[in-house]
Amino acid sequence: MTKIAIVEGDGIGHEVIPVARQVLEVLHPTYDFYTVDVGYHRWEETGCPCADRDIAALKEADAVLFGAVTTPPMKDYQSVVLRIRKALDLYANLRPIKDSGFDVVIVRENTEGLYSGIEEIDADRATTLRVVTRKGTERIVRSAIRLVQNRHGSLTIGHKANVLKSDVFFRDICLKEAQAAGIPHNDKFIDALALDILQHPDMYDVVVTTNIFGDILSDVASYLVGGLGLAPSANIGDRHALFEPVHGSAPDIAGKNIANPIAAMRSAALLLSHLADDPGADLIEQAIQRTLTSGIRTRDLGGNAGTREFGDAVAHEISRLTRR
Ligand code: NAD
Ligand code: IPM
Ligand code: MN
Repeated sequence: MTKIAIVEGDGIGHEVIPVARQVLEVLHPTYDFYTVDVGYHRWEETGCPCADRDIAALKEADAVLFGAVTTPPMKDYQSVVLRIRKALDLYANLRPIKDSGFDVVIVRENTEGLYSGIEEIDADRATTLRVVTRKGTERIVRSAIRLVQNRHGSLTIGHKANVLKSDVFFRDICLKEAQAAGIPHNDKFIDALALDILQHPDMYDVVVTTNIFGDILSDVASYLVGGLGLAPSANIGDRHALFEPVHGSAPDIAGKNIANPIAAMRSAALLLSHLADDPGADLIEQAIQRTLTSGIRTRDLGGNAGTREFGDAVAHEISRLTRR
């Protein structure tokens, strides 16, 4: 039986994930759903945000649906989501940005770069080591190349090789792999790319970049689809996969039933495509589009539907589509 671990996390994770789960349950009532409770709230309650047994429970799943966790800017607090990405070796973070007229996937390296965790802070100086390895770069660019081949598209390598030696290394490995694969490709400085993707999204297909550049670029690019409430992501490794919205726990709107659950539902759709190329993924997107077209929208899109109400409307559309 297909096992799906559900992690709500913190903040609006408690609101958007139940909605996304409901959609999965409508489509796959026989899946085995089980919850894993991690996040900052666990740290507040117990002093431990994520235990070893939680990681073990996530590893049991065929796929994880994850909300968001609060990562407070404290010196000694380790982000739960980063720990999970590392523990499950989810090295490819795929962040699709798609609407009529453009279809881009940002492929973010997810385990190294500035997120390698080699840091030091003392009274007068702080350092964070940016580690880019051959192995890490080859596996992320090969994931991106496979995507390009499946989509019959092209690859853009985003970097800052004019300044950073680690990005000369990253760019050169990416270029070599793209040339060897014989796919159309180019490369661009990440700062110029961040503007150009907003001005000409139709010129891009797959964009591969290092960890923090991909983090920033994906929040920026979510502007193209209506903001963070709409942008999903897939974290893929060789053995595990986790699906989560690009957004965080949004403490400013948490607990108000106003968060947009589309990013979470689209993450559930990515989960289904990953597991079995499931037609349910298309149904979820169709149902979201129908709901939006009918005028039901959450506040970030200018409407007044609550998170729950929007989710119910999408679930209702899915039932109608599957009854046909
Ligand atoms: P955020 O993504 O939580 O919110 C940024 C802005 O976007 C806020 O104004 C928020 O209200 C809005 N927003 C986000 N999701 C929305 C939705 N679904 N519907 C409507 N509006 C939405 O980023 P932040 O405020 O910078 O970070 C908050 C916390 O989340 C931090 O602790 C951060 O570390 C954490 N975070 C976690 C993840 C994750 O778990 N993967 C991702 C990003 C941020
Ligand atoms: C994201 C988030 C995380 C990241 C934070 C919360 C650690 O911003 O998933 O985009 O930087 O990867
Ligand atoms: Mn981010």
